[in-house]
Amino acid sequence: MTSWLRKYCNTILRYVLFITVLLLSSTGSSPDNRCTSSLISTCEECLSLGPECAWCFQETFLDGAHSSQRCDSVANLMKKGCEVEFIDNPKVRVDVNATLSSSQVAPRDITISLRPGSQASFVVEVQQLERYPVDLYYLVDVSASMQDILDRLKTVGVALSHSMKEHSRDFRVGFGSFVDKPTSPYIDVHPSKIVNPCSDYDVQCRPAHGFIHVLPVTENMTEFTRVIQQQRISGNMDTPEGGFDAMLQAAVCQKDIGWRPEAKHLLLVMTDQPSHLSLDSKLAGIVVPHDGSCHLEGSTYSQSTNMEHPTIGQLAEKLLENSIYSIFAVDQVQYKWYEDLVDLLPGTFLGKLLPKASNLKDLVVQAYKKLLSDVEVEIGVENSQINRFWVNVTTLCPNGSTLTGTAKCSDVQPKQTVFFNITIGMTECPNRVEEGAGEEVLVTVQPVGFNESVTVHVRQACGCACRESKRCHDDPNPPPCADSAESQAADTELDLTDSCRENRGGPLCSDRGTCTCGKCLCDRSSLGTIYGKFCERDDFSCPYAGGVSCAGHGQCVSGVCLCQPGWTGESCMCPVSTETCLSGDGLICSGHGKCVCGRCVCDSPQHSGSLCDKCPTCFSSCQSQWSCIDCHLSNGFGQGNTEQCNRSCTPLVGYVDDITELMGGTWRNCLYPSGDHCHYRFQMGLASDRPQLHISRHRECLYSQQYFMTFLSVFILTVVLGLVILAGIRTLLRSRRWPQLAKPSEKSEDNSKDLSYAPRSNEKTITYRRDRLPEHPVEMHVHIPKMPLSEVWQ
Ligand SMILES: *[C@@H]1O[C@H](CO)[C@@H](O)[C@H](O)[C@H]1NC(C)=O
Ligand SMILES: *[C@@H]1O[C@H](CO)[C@@H](O)[C@H](O)[C@H]1NC(C)=O
Ligand SMILES: *[C@@H]1O[C@H](CO)[C@@H](O)[C@H](O)[C@H]1NC(C)=O
Ligand SMILES: *[C@@H]1O[C@H](CO)[C@@H](O)[C@H](O)[C@H]1NC(C)=O
Ligand SMILES: *[C@@H]1O[C@H](CO)[C@@H](O)[C@H](O)[C@H]1NC(C)=O
Ligand SMILES: *[C@@H]1O[C@H](CO)[C@@H](O)[C@H](O)[C@H]1NC(C)=O
Ligand SMILES: *[C@@H]1O[C@H](CO)[C@@H](O)[C@H](O)[C@H]1NC(C)=O
Repeated sequence: MTSWLRKYCNTILRYVLFITVLLLSSTGSSPDNRCTSSLISTCEECLSLGPECAWCFQETFLDGAHSSQRCDSVANLMKKGCEVEFIDNPKVRVDVNATLSSSQVAPRDITISLRPGSQASFVVEVQQLERYPVDLYYLVDVSASMQDILDRLKTVGVALSHSMKEHSRDFRVGFGSFVDKPTSPYIDVHPSKIVNPCSDYDVQCRPAHGFIHVLPVTENMTEFTRVIQQQRISGNMDTPEGGFDAMLQAAVCQKDIGWRPEAKHLLLVMTDQPSHLSLDSKLAGIVVPHDGSCHLEGSTYSQSTNMEHPTIGQLAEKLLENSIYSIFAVDQVQYKWYEDLVDLLPGTFLGKLLPKASNLKDLVVQAYKKLLSDVEVEIGVENSQINRFWVNVTTLCPNGSTLTGTAKCSDVQPKQTVFFNITIGMTECPNRVEEGAGEEVLVTVQPVGFNESVTVHVRQACGCACRESKRCHDDPNPPPCADSAESQAADTELDLTDSCRENRGGPLCSDRGTCTCGKCLCDRSSLGTIYGKFCERDDFSCPYAGGVSCAGHGQCVSGVCLCQPGWTGESCMCPVSTETCLSGDGLICSGHGKCVCGRCVCDSPQHSGSLCDKCPTCFSSCQSQWSCIDCHLSNGFGQGNTEQCNRSCTPLVGYVDDITELMGGTWRNCLYPSGDHCHYRFQMGLASDRPQLHISRHRECLYSQQYFMTFLSVFILTVVLGLVILAGIRTLLRSRRWPQLAKPSEKSEDNSKDLSYAPRSNEKTITYRRDRLPEHPVEMHVHIPKMPLSEVWQ
């Protein structure tokens, strides 16, 4: 690389670095405050910036400053001098209407007030009761292939009714049938086939129909059996049937079907084919979307050939609204098709119907148990508003687990309660032109399959209260002069400009604004805000502390901080009171320092910490605690007034009977000398900054050298005396025993080889040699003490 190229690269690199630093600093220096944007000029715009933003509509607030200054957090506005009653700041609220009560779902009615960007949470409790009345509606596909099942239903129906009586306190059944939309291409429209679709097979069938409601829900099983017996099959051309059309009618025609409001509603759909979806209707030239209403004429669905099949979403909504659990009992072949459907329809159970519906009874009982043990809520927001709101659910199941983002618990037993913590947030206010702006939005929390729901009224706090009194002061344009009549003379104008000068002859609006109609409109500055009647105030030309002009505790007037009460110093950063320097013991800086500008300055370098309360070296030597021990001893082990001991040594003193064990680690074992050769043991805890002392109540003394010498001499004297006496006794005994010793004893024979019998000065050793046995010569020592001359030889 040539040097030229290197230089070039270096330059580029430097520029890149420079730009990066610039970018970083520009993002870093921008204050973390959404509310202060210079683009804001009205109260509504301000409130929409975020839930923490508020608007000050005080007339004299920051005279002359741009109106964007009126938008800030409440704390900042108050700091800038706005009084509380002039702050527009709608609150997020949750109000529960407790007048409506229910044993299953609580609460039933909630009102929340939201601002753009804010959210509110509330908890809904849902409890399944023990035994419900149950309404079961058989919705049976009567296309030709279902003949077997229809036959079987005649007997199974009664058996099922018996089994369900165990689980329900009042069981009722109803019946309806469906085939398909009776129009081409779904059915053969040849005149003879319309009347009898099975004419080719010499079988008498009934005409195809979208949905016929046959038997309203009843407890008369005789009636049910009679009706089933009358059912005949029908026929159509294509494979899918019009099941969804029929389901929707069965759900919404509450009165005709006879659904009881207090009962659990089971809609049992029996079919061996998939269902048509909404757009399939186009094949028959049907383009009117389903309106989701009941269209029974007599007992027949009248709009079958006029309206499209319902969408799955529409069907789900209607099933939920009418608290209907659906049970699909379908042929094995179609099981897969319905499996995908179950997740889309709330409160749905899918079961395989064995040939001839042999398992129908068990299937329904199993479905009922499963559906009731699932407790789930669906939350509905009005469609037109849905993109301005978001909803989040956290579920607390009876088994103790908390599920976030899921609104369903399984395996819930009767009488157990499930808690749903629901958070609703509003992202933005409705468009002004949009109708219904500012009105309530309804949100429903519908527990699946329950006859009760929660209504949430969401109030949108998008307007400003100051607007009503036309006092928001958010007009970004300077008002025209109050008396703009041309008759105003030039001298009045002079007067007007005079009112823009702080001092007579001083600069107009402090040279930082323009004088309009006798009022200063201050310049905008990239450095900060200029305001004040004469534009003499700002928030940047004074000393900074903590990154804020005048430490946020004062106003900057003509470059000098005017501190709020309680603050002092050039940049208003020093509190007047010494409260911040008080340590726990009520002393200023723990008695080891002075309070300077709200902070402790410690007297000696030994002490440290924000309250001069730390002194690692103060307590490291045993001797440092002697005065404290002394104090406690003189007070009689805490029985006296320990308060009298110096405060710095009172804390954490404990008395113990004895200190024998060496406590290692952070404890030091110490002695406190007390009188001659006596001491107290104590232990010093080194772990904390303050001394921690265990003082032994037991005084220990050592004997002095003098005592020791006396003791030693007495000891030696005693020993010597004892020895002398012993020797005397021994001598006496020996002299008595002499005759015995003269005779050789057996004992002495044993000791024959004992070398300890070294001759002593006053002994004479005679060795005998007795040849008693030739092979064992025996040697024998006899000690004969030399007789004193005075003794008479016996
Ligand atoms: C509570 O609900 C009842 C019934 O809907 C209604 O009459 C009443 O005004 C509501 N109370 C409140 C405080 O909203
Ligand atoms: C049940 O229905 C049958 C005929 O369908 C009728 O004769 C009988 O009276 C009904 N029973 C009751 C209790 O209504
Ligand atoms: C809902 O069902 C329960 C239990 O069967 C019943 O007590 C309550 O009255 C019903 N509520 C309504 C509004 O029908
Ligand atoms: C819902 O809550 C979960 C868990 O608290 C969170 O991760 C998720 O972002 C939230 N969704 C919304 C839209 O706030
Ligand atoms: C509790 O129930 C929920 C759903 O009902 C399930 O996901 C979770 O695993 C269960 N937790 C325990 C500890 O059984
Ligand atoms: C509900 O959820 C919100 C947001 O996740 C949380 O702040 C609040 O504490 C929760 N309330 C309860 C009672 O758990
Ligand atoms: C108590 O403290 C004072 C001053 O702080 C000192 O003069 C005195 O000697 C101390 N007394 C004891 C027993 O430590």
